[in-house]
Amino acid sequence: MKRRLLVKTRNVKNFVDLMNNLIDKSSEVPKMGLVYGDPGLGKTKTAIWWAGINDAVYVRAQNKMTSHGILEKVVEELGEAPSKKSTDLMKQCIAHLRLNPQIIIIDEVDYLIGQSKTIETLRDLHDLTGAPVVLIGMQEAKTKLGKFRHLYDRISEIVEFKPFSKEDMETIVDELSEIKITDEAKDIFFERTNRFRQTIKGISTLENLAKTNGLNKIDVKQVKGLKIEQ
Ligand SMILES: Nc1ncnc2c1ncn2[C@@H]1O[C@H](COP(=O)(O)OP(=O)(O)OP(=O)(O)O)[C@@H](O)[C@H]1O
Ligand SMILES: [Mg+2]
Repeated sequence: MKRRLLVKTRNVKNFVDLMNNLIDKSSEVPKMGLVYGDPGLGKTKTAIWWAGINDAVYVRAQNKMTSHGILEKVVEELGEAPSKKSTDLMKQCIAHLRLNPQIIIIDEVDYLIGQSKTIETLRDLHDLTGAPVVLIGMQEAKTKLGKFRHLYDRISEIVEFKPFSKEDMETIVDELSEIKITDEAKDIFFERTNRFRQTIKGISTLENLAKTNGLNKIDVKQVKGLKIEQ
């Protein structure tokens, strides 16, 4: 199995486009982004990868986190010692980001939705620092955020992470598998799995099978015999 940090699936490409669109917007346009979708589709993985190569701030919200708590995390990620008071934390964000503009990515935003105080803080973070703020959440996040008009109106880019398409599965298999898998075998494999972890396990099992049996390609027979945990 080839070790790749990230496979460039459709979701990954859409994420990159969203980020570039936000960066390209003129200063009068609000620069909040929303990325949402079902679990396990790679939202977190993609965000951390993108933040790493683009020097963005990535923070993950936690259960019952207050607006103070999220600001504290952002300040820490900016590399500063967090102040005690919330108003000072916001001042730290403003001072730091005005001098060194960085995109802020907040993952698991579902934990912050529900308290109007945290929603206001996210809005302030965007309005007062001028930094693009990207929120990542679950499928329901979009509907829930829609109820907060003042925040929702600032969201100018939205991407939904979708289950892998056949094309994505091709990309994943081609990028990760070291052994050739015939087109017929791929078709059967894709009918049986479309989740990343299952796919990785499947490829690895098929590779081992090929190795022990001295096969130079994987065909229908091997894929049919593959056990896939649901
Ligand atoms: N394009 C990809 N390239 C490499 N690995 C991926 C890709 N997409 C998903 N994965 C893998 O799938 C698994 C789930 O991804 P991740 O945790 O990022 O999903 P998520 O959408 O953030 O889920 P949740 O909503 O539960 O937070 C991870 O182990 C990750 O490594
Ligand atoms: Mg996640």
